[in-house]
Amino acid sequence: MKVLESPIMQGFMRMAQDGFDQGWHERNGGNLTYRMKREEVEQVWEDLRFDAPWQEIGASVPELAGEFFIATGSGKYFRNVMPFPEDSVAVVELDDAGEKYRICWGLVNGGRPTSELPSHLMNHQVKKKATGGRHRVIYHAHTTNVIALTFVLPLTDEAFTRELWEMATECPVVFPDGIGVVPWMVPGGHAIAVETSNLMEKYDVAVWAHHGIFCSGEDFDLTFGLAHTVEKSAEILVKTLSMTQHKRQTIQPDQFRELAKDFGVTLPERFLFEK
Ligand code: 13P
Ligand code: ZN
Repeated sequence: MKVLESPIMQGFMRMAQDGFDQGWHERNGGNLTYRMKREEVEQVWEDLRFDAPWQEIGASVPELAGEFFIATGSGKYFRNVMPFPEDSVAVVELDDAGEKYRICWGLVNGGRPTSELPSHLMNHQVKKKATGGRHRVIYHAHTTNVIALTFVLPLTDEAFTRELWEMATECPVVFPDGIGVVPWMVPGGHAIAVETSNLMEKYDVAVWAHHGIFCSGEDFDLTFGLAHTVEKSAEILVKTLSMTQHKRQTIQPDQFRELAKDFGVTLPERFLFEK
């Protein structure tokens, strides 16, 4: 089967378009990677090439050795993924050590996978282990309202988790483990990759101060849905803060505990502090 006809590439392209339509991907902002299943690689095997040079990842991910990923290209626009996928997206293979990658499909006009590849792959490695292989998607988006909040809220996991949980009743059910916060750091490098992947041991969402979010999930629906829920909640908080500095009423810690019981989730007590 041609890569472009495969259901998994179709799903990847749709998610990129959905993110663009939300306004989270100005210019080349954001990036998306998917860790392919063995049968998905076999399905498109004939359409892959194996003669491109191996290149350094910029991170060591031995637990992902030999795996294949679909990745947006560095400097490529989410807006162009659907109309020009072969120019904007790559399928890459990792080497036996998990230190190098090579391009097996796509980026036909040159280029390389996203500059955030070290962060994506280190997050994939952490999440593969933490979820017994279930998580396959890592998504970075420039979500407007979450970014706005990083200028206003304290840059702590506690502040972001609790404020965003309070903004919509279903939030604690969608991200019961909470949200991690990375202070401002230079993007694209090893240090931000290490910091983010440490947080991904505990959380499925990490906020990058003054930059955007990173989300991890099992499939495109769950990962996009997670980013969408977090950003929607941030939008409600931005609207609320634009009206008043003081919430007249909100969801209380005991009400979160009741919710957790009925919905069968565990909410860490450290987010249920008295204010
Ligand atoms: P890339 O174009 O290299 O994916 O970078 C975009 C981005 O959002 C960096 O954080
Ligand atoms: Zn970015």
